[in-house]
Amino acid sequence: TAPAAVIVAIDGPSGTGKSSTSKAVAAKLGLRYLDTGAQYRAITWWMLSNGVDVNDPAAVATAAAKPTIVSGTDPGSPAITVDGADAAGPIRTREVTAAVSAVSAVPEVRARLTELQRQIARAGRGIVVEGRDIGTTVLPDADLKIFLTASPEARAARRSGELKGKEATGLAATREALIKRDAADSGRKVSPLAKADDAHEVDTTELTLEQVVECVVTLVETTADRA
Ligand code: DC
Repeated sequence: TAPAAVIVAIDGPSGTGKSSTSKAVAAKLGLRYLDTGAQYRAITWWMLSNGVDVNDPAAVATAAAKPTIVSGTDPGSPAITVDGADAAGPIRTREVTAAVSAVSAVPEVRARLTELQRQIARAGRGIVVEGRDIGTTVLPDADLKIFLTASPEARAARRSGELKGKEATGLAATREALIKRDAADSGRKVSPLAKADDAHEVDTTELTLEQVVECVVTLVETTADRA
């Protein structure tokens, strides 16, 4: 198998460098790229914009099938639209971030997006898919599974670096919000954030982005040689 035909699942909590790593690995190896967190954010944005009470699971379940979500797979310019509208900016607001865990805990939302993610993965050659449940649920047959971790301090520092200028939040507040969201994502009943038994765990606390990318690229190349 050529590295460009490998299916890679990258999971882990927020602030571990999942998105930066996944995009860089895909770009380096000529793979497609899918950000499944962006899809959960997009459906959440649509619910907030259309008056759906995100804390009412029955209302969220009923609305789950309504918006049309289209994800691009170019790691150089990851695009996402909801009913044709560009969602790349709006899905990163604090309102969406605060509501996304509740929306993504609803089984009808997960079933719909899991199906969409499998369709996209099947629709071409190799791909890097990042999320929380890719190795365990969405693509259990992925050629390579990576689980990224980092200390809560490192994760909060990275997240607040990303937010700088956009929405100034203190480091302590960012850390609290992040820990709360991870607890919700790990504790939900359906398809929680979890490491697959056959995933390679990479602790990124002491590593630069370049080092993490190098590590994952080597794992992809080894996997491609074996297949
Ligand atoms: O990676 P992110 O922070 O953009 O993800 C946003 C939220 O979406 C996250 O809090 C949990 C949810 N999510 C999920 O439940 N399953 C996935 N495969 C990806 C994200």
